[in-house]
Amino acid sequence: MQTPFETAAALKKTLSYHGHRYHTLDEPEIPDAEYDRLFRELQALEARHPELITPDSPTQRVGAEPLAGFGEVPHEVPMLSLGNAFSEQEIHEFDRRVVLRTAVPPENPEAGSEPVALRGEKQDKIAGTVAYVAEPKIDGVAVSLRYENGILVRGATRGDGTRGEDITRNVRTIGAVPLRLFGEDIPAVLEVRGEVYMEIAAFEGLNAGQRERGEKAFANPRNAAAGSLRQLDPAITADRPLTMFCYGVGAVEGELPDRHDRVLERLSRWGLRVSPEIEVVHGASGCLDYYHRIMERRVPRTANIPDDDPPSNSGTRADREPASRQPGALGYEIDGVVYKVNSLSDQAKLGRVARAPRWAIAHKFPAEEAITQIFDIQVQVGRTGAITPVARLKPVRVGGVTVTNATLHNQDEVERKDVRIGDTVVVRRAGDVIPEVARVLPDHRLPDAAPFQIPTRCPECRSDVVRAQGESAARCSGGLFCPAQRKQAVRHFAGRRAMDIEGLGERLVEQLVDEGLVRSVADLYRLDAPTLAGLERMGELSAQNLLKALEKSKSTTLARFLFALGIREVGEATAGNLADHFGSLERLQSASEEELQQAPDVGPIVARRIVSFFSQPHNRDIVRALQNPQIGMHWVDTPPAVNAAEALKPLAGQTFVITGTLSVMTREAAKHHLKALGAKVSGSVSGKTTYLIAGNEPGSKFAKAEKLGIPIMTEAAFLEKLEDPRTTPKSTKEA
Ligand code: IVH
Repeated sequence: MQTPFETAAALKKTLSYHGHRYHTLDEPEIPDAEYDRLFRELQALEARHPELITPDSPTQRVGAEPLAGFGEVPHEVPMLSLGNAFSEQEIHEFDRRVVLRTAVPPENPEAGSEPVALRGEKQDKIAGTVAYVAEPKIDGVAVSLRYENGILVRGATRGDGTRGEDITRNVRTIGAVPLRLFGEDIPAVLEVRGEVYMEIAAFEGLNAGQRERGEKAFANPRNAAAGSLRQLDPAITADRPLTMFCYGVGAVEGELPDRHDRVLERLSRWGLRVSPEIEVVHGASGCLDYYHRIMERRVPRTANIPDDDPPSNSGTRADREPASRQPGALGYEIDGVVYKVNSLSDQAKLGRVARAPRWAIAHKFPAEEAITQIFDIQVQVGRTGAITPVARLKPVRVGGVTVTNATLHNQDEVERKDVRIGDTVVVRRAGDVIPEVARVLPDHRLPDAAPFQIPTRCPECRSDVVRAQGESAARCSGGLFCPAQRKQAVRHFAGRRAMDIEGLGERLVEQLVDEGLVRSVADLYRLDAPTLAGLERMGELSAQNLLKALEKSKSTTLARFLFALGIREVGEATAGNLADHFGSLERLQSASEEELQQAPDVGPIVARRIVSFFSQPHNRDIVRALQNPQIGMHWVDTPPAVNAAEALKPLAGQTFVITGTLSVMTREAAKHHLKALGAKVSGSVSGKTTYLIAGNEPGSKFAKAEKLGIPIMTEAAFLEKLEDPRTTPKSTKEA
């Protein structure tokens, strides 16, 4: 006779086993009715003995009350995104970069000493020997699951990559998400990354139900998945047919294999759902072969086409339906494939740029197109004054969403494509890229179709519109005098990746700037409750919430603050590099162009923009106002990045200048390798230069180095130096 404890344990185990067979493996062993009977038995037992209820019990997937809002979860290991490629050429380039960066280990002085041998190895790899894992790129929502000692303790969205939303209660309702892992060698901490999505058939069923109930249908499976996951009431999520594929890991405490394919295999053995389409392929050609095979099996986006849709759509649901019925068709939407370097040590060597790893790339499917008509062309003024012509369109469905605006980029593009108001055009949309007007259908041109010209005055502030030589964009010269630029600057400042001021949306910024309450971003911190509450559509509560969000934003990081300032060319990654390198705003502000270029990935253009930004009095005023102690903005300064570890690097204290074209690697790669070895890389030759590296067709720097008696290295000598940084290569010429 079993004790109730033993009976409950046995039922939990049986139900978990069958749940896994059903949701994860798609190979159920028992009829659904039998599963339901066992489930009810466990429920009844737990009702009689509530002490037997454990968090990993299959009955505990739903049960929590709705929440007022989601909490925030930091990601110990950031959730990165992926660089995109659309052409085969880009995949070859990606592969070549991987080969080059994994072939020359900058911190491995023991590697062979002959530069000739080194080149041989590289060419080998160029022939295509890198092993990649190729995976479908599922069009859903990225999620991180945290398991501690095998128990699911947290589910989170990606958020801004470093902080996401706590959706634990919602992911628990997804059948394919194990509440407890099973098997051997489960790490003490395991963060699993993957995509929650909805299969096409399930999506169509859900939409049919929505329509029957008179509720709004979802535009596409991805929106349906996202909307279902972000429910404050987990009971609603539980009702939605969500599933998940896992494609990687985040933080791990414990042992994992040293290859990506084996990590995935492990995840699958522990009960997590991994795509059966994943393959190990070799070189760019292996990647491309996989791409073509998957593309054949892809079901193009099913559009939720309303009845009143314009008939001119290319590709309606009726055109596409047979694809989903073809044997071998994937039952879910993908927007491309992903290639990942299989060796985890090579992944580590490759590192990342900004928020995307260098060891992986998304190869997107070609853009989707549709035909519609332009009824007007208007211009938009961006944060830096750039004037972008935008076509207003008769609504049209492209790749699963309704498009009403499409960018025309700039005046040159308008002219090159000869786009006129009233034209019938092809609109193109690739992935999440902004839709654009691809081309005009000249046969449909109306006799009165009017050419378009960017106005000579800014439509927002009447300032002159100017176009600098060599630039494609025309810009409003009004600067922060222009309300459009001011609005964009405030929105950028408040953005999630910048100061992260929640609740300061587009409409509110519009009101604040239009009413003259906010002239610069510093004014935000002078707003008070009565002023805010007096605004249209604002109440006491929203005013209080905004003030709280403003207060919260004051505790920030130097990187966020720098990014928030909106200096041209200073994106999030550059801001992070600058913050790490200089450690304080004062040091950064007083740095010369030369000094700025010592920061990783900062070239002459970015350096010039930064110096120019801080040299303008109104920018200095804004920065000073933001730092006014009464506001109380704060972050932790760090010492500049010349620490003990840096000083020990083999090329510490040496300054290199590169001139001419290198044949084995790009200049950026050379710069990267030198910096990794502790060297400074400068843009101009001076008495402080240690070596000049001269590639093919060297420029004026060569003559200058000769004049100053600076030693000159050929590319071969430089490669030798990379391998053995502490010696002087023989072929270095003392000028
Ligand atoms: S890997 C560091 N693999 O695509 C690598 N992402 O554009 C980060 N996605 O946020 C992601 N399928 O939501 C990876 N097999 C796959 C994927 C995949 C879909 C999504 C994911 C990610 C986005 C990046």
